[in-house]
Amino acid sequence: KRIVILISGRGSNMQAVQQACRVEGWKAEVAAVIANVPGAAGLAWAASQGLATAAVDHRAFPDRQAFEAALIEQIDRHAPDLLLLAGFMRILTPGFVGHYAGRLLNIHPSLLPAFGGLHTHRRAIETGCKLAGATVHFVTPELDHGPIVIQSAVPVRTDDSEHSLAERVLATEHVIYPRAVRWFVHGELELAGNLVRHRGGEP
Ligand code: GRF
Repeated sequence: KRIVILISGRGSNMQAVQQACRVEGWKAEVAAVIANVPGAAGLAWAASQGLATAAVDHRAFPDRQAFEAALIEQIDRHAPDLLLLAGFMRILTPGFVGHYAGRLLNIHPSLLPAFGGLHTHRRAIETGCKLAGATVHFVTPELDHGPIVIQSAVPVRTDDSEHSLAERVLATEHVIYPRAVRWFVHGELELAGNLVRHRGGEP
């Protein structure tokens, strides 16, 4: 199976997926890492691992549609079976999402359906949540919605800052994203409407 990963920044989730793929010997490979920010730190890491990389700078295009057309062209060169959003900070149109329907995953740093969008950790703290976490889900046209594959939860501590909570959640992202991707590439996920079932019976 061929995996393409979209990033905008540091790319620590992309690294976690790539390393799990290699170390665990998945029947898959990361075919390319593509960023919308040419200087994204994750691109340099991916290149250092010998992965194909590309940048499609959204600022170079007159509108979202033109940007996405260029992005799709870059992605589809690598004929992906699975496209991952990993800290990719652009909103995608229904046209883009539809093009990759059923093979597009995202990781979001909250326990969806709570706190879609930005500043999830600050909002969880301000709301007085006692648990926070992360969600891997199939991407549908509605932002941060879509069938949930796996979630992780961590406690929110009374002395937590946005930063300390983000760190605790991120450590779990690096566990659940590779797990969800492994399930996908090994054909262990069943999608029925808005529900995802893992054939092995894992939650
Ligand atoms: C992660 O917390 C991800 O869930 C979020 O942005 C962050 C990206 O981190 N949407 P990285 O680029 O994977 O290190």
